Amino acid sequence: MHSSIPRTGLRTGTNHLFIPGPTNVPEPVRRAMNVAMEDQRGPEFGALGLGILADLKRIFRTETARVILYPGSGTGAWEAAITNTLNPGDRVVMARHGQFSTLWAEMATRLGLEVDLIDVAWGAGVPVSEVTRRLAADRKGAIKAVFVTHNETATGVTSDIAAVRRALDDCFHDALLFVDGVSSVGSIDFRMDDWGVDLAVTGSQKGLMCPAGLGILAVSPKALKASDASTMRRAYFEFRDFAMLADTGYFPYTPPTQLLHGLRAALDRIQAEGLDTVLSRHARLAEGVRRAVAAWGLQTCAEHPSLASNTVTAIRVPEGVDAREVIRIGHQRYNTSFGSGLSRLAGKVFRIGHLGDLNEGMCLTALAVAEMALVEAGADIDFGSGVAAAQAWYAQGHSTQSLKIAAE
Ligand SMILES: Cc1ncc(COP(=O)(O)O)c(C=O)c1O
Repeated sequence: MHSSIPRTGLRTGTNHLFIPGPTNVPEPVRRAMNVAMEDQRGPEFGALGLGILADLKRIFRTETARVILYPGSGTGAWEAAITNTLNPGDRVVMARHGQFSTLWAEMATRLGLEVDLIDVAWGAGVPVSEVTRRLAADRKGAIKAVFVTHNETATGVTSDIAAVRRALDDCFHDALLFVDGVSSVGSIDFRMDDWGVDLAVTGSQKGLMCPAGLGILAVSPKALKASDASTMRRAYFEFRDFAMLADTGYFPYTPPTQLLHGLRAALDRIQAEGLDTVLSRHARLAEGVRRAVAAWGLQTCAEHPSLASNTVTAIRVPEGVDAREVIRIGHQRYNTSFGSGLSRLAGKVFRIGHLGDLNEGMCLTALAVAEMALVEAGADIDFGSGVAAAQAWYAQGHSTQSLKIAAE
């Protein structure tokens, strides 16, 4: 019925990258990185560092936090956040509802924290009422931090950070609020100051449209104060060493200069588009993907529409279909990469990443290829059904569709 998979190894056209990070690096960002090596202690370099820090603050929507960058990735930034502000044996509360919140909890345990886990379904959001219950019961202030994965990339679920902040405030609890914004910052509404986030963590390779290689943190004044009292072992990730970067734009060790030029160009693009427009574009594109999933008669992993992520949709395949096959066919036959189902979701879901440098036509390509891969993998869906549903939505031109998590 179908033509055979190309045997030559030659792949024509472009690879369509629909994993939820690394995302497509726009051509101007790639070009900005194609520069000669330079003296990272030379007279001009400091201005590059200072400009990037100032503009990243806008992306985190903070005026008060200090931004810190490490050569590394989101995982390194998790570790920096923990080791700089907490103490061995500290109790922290966190929900486990997908692969990334699971890994973060494992890291916290490995670093010697006492992790008070709240296990919920993979597809649920952070259970704010249970967080509130645990905070309210903690009369002696043993809980030192609440960790929240803003956007669980494994399940395509966005949790309500403002509600977690309210829970802390309602309980008069002064635990630090840690937020993993690896797949939300720069693409889903994120408000460091308004939500009273103490440590926000992200990486360069998702909403920031750069290659992987930078772990990025925003650290509130309260978290900086906590770092003075923290006795956890750290060396490379010492926040204090970064005072130099904040004040002069120079790094305490050799920075990835090309990546920083790429980040500069990416930040320029976000500013040219306008952060609010970037966020509403993500909301609009994501809604088209969700409408396609509904038209196929399939379910998202997100348990409720209010939880659905604007950066990634995890799609449950029908009974009898192996999601790994959908991904394999997409890649081998159509040169299109979808995200896999991670850990316990392997074979059950495939993910369409829709973040970063993306537009309607690109999403329609993802949906058209997904339809072909789903059908070949055995799903009973009509060609064009999802594409048509997304087209109908995109053609309405809802450029100012309201953001999923409205400003409080
Ligand atoms: C929500 C979330 N947290 C953390 C990570 C880990 O980040 P990195 O792979 O940059 O170390 C990822 C990676 O995809 C993620 O999606």
